[in-house]
Amino acid sequence: LGGGLVDTHGRVHRDLRISLTDRCSLRCTYCMPEQGNEWLARTSILSTDEIVEVAEVAAALGIRTFRLTGGEPLLRSDIVEVVRRIARIEGEDGPVEVAMTTNGISLAPKLPDLIDAGLTRLNISIDTVDRQRFADLTRRDRLDDVFEGIAAAAASSLRPLKLNAVAMRGVNDDELVDLVEFAMRMGAQLRFIEQMPLDAGHTWDRASMVTREEILASLGERWRLDPVEGRGGAPAEKWRIDGGPHEVGVIASVTAPFCGACDRLRLTADGQLRNCLFSNVEYDLVDVLRGADAVPGARAGGIAAMLRSCVHGKLPGHAINDPSFLQPARGMNAIGG
Ligand code: GTP
Ligand code: 5AD
Ligand code: SF4
Repeated sequence: LGGGLVDTHGRVHRDLRISLTDRCSLRCTYCMPEQGNEWLARTSILSTDEIVEVAEVAAALGIRTFRLTGGEPLLRSDIVEVVRRIARIEGEDGPVEVAMTTNGISLAPKLPDLIDAGLTRLNISIDTVDRQRFADLTRRDRLDDVFEGIAAAAASSLRPLKLNAVAMRGVNDDELVDLVEFAMRMGAQLRFIEQMPLDAGHTWDRASMVTREEILASLGERWRLDPVEGRGGAPAEKWRIDGGPHEVGVIASVTAPFCGACDRLRLTADGQLRNCLFSNVEYDLVDVLRGADAVPGARAGGIAAMLRSCVHGKLPGHAINDPSFLQPARGMNAIGG
């Protein structure tokens, strides 16, 4: 299939995030309206065969890490099968990584099968450890289910275990230390995320976003934080807490964009390739997978060409900080985070 996925700015793409569904078991106020979004039609959702076919071509072109996202990926009924089939793919230098980002609900009962299927890593979202706040923020009283999922992950062999918290003014900005302490007790690494303009309601505003600086100031009142060197393509900047061994991360997409090191591509649940969370262009794989001249077994070339076009069209960075910035039409839940 030819060489790797290098864009016009020299960035080599190694990471494909695959959204398995746009549906979710929560209704976080910063992500979705109460009634949920208008869901993608079931017939437009890629089948597991289709996803695996794309993943095989991507791996042949140098993708090493597949991250399964949503909405909530555990809502996909054949999630174990998806993991098993992707985990079997051989990358350029050995087996690929199959990671998942989940809200943790219903993770505990499924985790043994997921690990058996080849899941290598988990990131779990938890924005608050306060029950009432969780219920208000997610519109579902399910913090105990999330705790159960995190406990199961902590007891498993999967490491590093990462917890994600979007920092929000007036919502959880007074409990950043509590969140880190919770993560330390679970043997997990907490990462605070600057809120990005990706909500379905287009309510994001710069003033209510809690910045990297504010997060560090708040944690700095409690602990000494020493920067950890060597970030690679990872979005999180990390600090060692009081000399270690625990670490805390910040994903500062807005105030300290890391686009220059971006190695990611995204595949939406309905088969659209995206080269950035914020891009306004999508590359339609459905045409290749289901089009009239989509001959089974002979589609790999078409998929590879589409992956290459997608990479070729990638801009140097997002434009959140430009006055002319326009939020993408798709919300976070339909892009895959
Ligand atoms: P690791 O590989 O474990 O570092 O995972 P990750 O941080 O890439 O993925 P995760 O799904 O846990 O995402 C955490 C946060 O980072 C979410 O808010 C994502 O939207 C955000 N994120 C992930 N990749 C990118 C990216 O390429 N660009 C931007 N701006 N944000 C990203
Ligand atoms: N900005 C930043 N992070 C977000 N997430 C969801 N919406 C946003 C947003 N607008 C987070 C989720 C989850 C991860 C996949 O993305 O909380 O941790
Ligand atoms: Fe679901 Fe994640 Fe959106 Fe919350 S942020 S509603 S957990 S997709």
